[in-house]
Amino acid sequence: MKIGILGTGNLAAYLVQGAQQGGHQFVLSPRGTAKAADLAARFGCAVAASNQAVVDACDHILVCLPAAEGLAVLRGLTFRAGQEVCSAMAGASLEDMRAAIGPATATLSMMPGYANAFSAGPTFLYPANSDWAAFFAACGPVHEMTDARSFETTAVFGGMSGASVFLMRHLAAWYEAEGLDPATARRLVAETLRGNAEVLLQSNEPLDAICKGVTTPGGITEQLLSDLGQDGALDSWHRAMTRVLHRMAPARKG
Ligand SMILES: NC(=O)c1ccc[n+]([C@@H]2O[C@H](COP(=O)([O-])OP(=O)(O)OC[C@H]3O[C@@H](n4cnc5c(N)ncnc54)[C@H](OP(=O)(O)O)[C@@H]3O)[C@@H](O)[C@H]2O)c1
Repeated sequence: MKIGILGTGNLAAYLVQGAQQGGHQFVLSPRGTAKAADLAARFGCAVAASNQAVVDACDHILVCLPAAEGLAVLRGLTFRAGQEVCSAMAGASLEDMRAAIGPATATLSMMPGYANAFSAGPTFLYPANSDWAAFFAACGPVHEMTDARSFETTAVFGGMSGASVFLMRHLAAWYEAEGLDPATARRLVAETLRGNAEVLLQSNEPLDAICKGVTTPGGITEQLLSDLGQDGALDSWHRAMTRVLHRMAPARKG
C-alpha cells in the first residue's frame, strides 16, 4: 500500500519503522522537517509539498497530527470517496472524523507508539477494517473493536502505556540511587516486567491465582504491597485512568 502520513512526528516515525516488513511506500507531510528528512534517509519515504499533496497521492492516510488541532487541519483538506483514513489522535471520535474527512472512510486506532517500532505494541482499531488491520499487523498484535464504548475504554491504554514507561524509569532510578549502574538498573527493570508480562500471556491461571502464587505469606512482596496500599499508590492509577477516559469520552462522566 502507499500510505500517506499527516503529522510527521514521534508516532509517525515509530509506525514507519515498525511497518517496514509490510513493504509499503510512505508519503509524509512536510512539517516536522528533521523527522521527515530522517525517515526519508532511513526508509526511503517521500516527503510531499503540502498536507493536501499527501491526501491527493494516497488512498490510505494515517493521521498522526496533534490531537488538539488535528480535526481542524483535516477539515481544511479535501478527501475523496474510496480513501481510507485512520486517525491515531487521542480523543477524536468516529463522528468527528467522519465529519472532517467525508466522503472518505474513517477508522480510529490507538497504540503505545514506541513499542510498535519494534513490532511489539498492540493496536486497537474501531471499527474493524481489513486494510488497516493488515497494515498494523506488522507493528504488533491487532485488536478490532466492534463497539464505540469498548474502543473508548481500550484507548485509555495509550496513556497507561506511556505512564508505565515513566513508572519503569522511576523504578530504575531507585536502583541507581541505591548504587546499581544505570545500564544494570534499566535492564533489571525491563527484564523483570517483560518476564511478568510473559506470565500473563502464557499462563492459563486466573490473575488472582498468579498474584497469590508470587506472594509468600509474610514475605517482601506482601510488605511492599501493604506499603503501596497504605499510600494509595495502586488505586491512584485507577483514579487517573478514569480521568483520562472522561477527557476522551466526556459522555462517560455521568
Ligand atoms: N507519541 C506516541 O507514542 C503516540 C501514541 C499513540 C497516539 N499518539 C497520537 O499521535 C498524535 C501525534 O503524537 P506525537 O507524539 O507523534 O506528536 P509530535 O511528535 O508532536 O508530532 C506531531 C507532528 O505533527 C506536525 N504538525 C502539527 N501541525 C501540523 C499541520 N497543520 N500540518 C502538518 N503537520 C502538522 C508537527 O509538526 P511541527 O513539529 O512542525 O509542529 C509534528 O511533526 C497525537 O494526536 C497523539 O495523541 C501518539
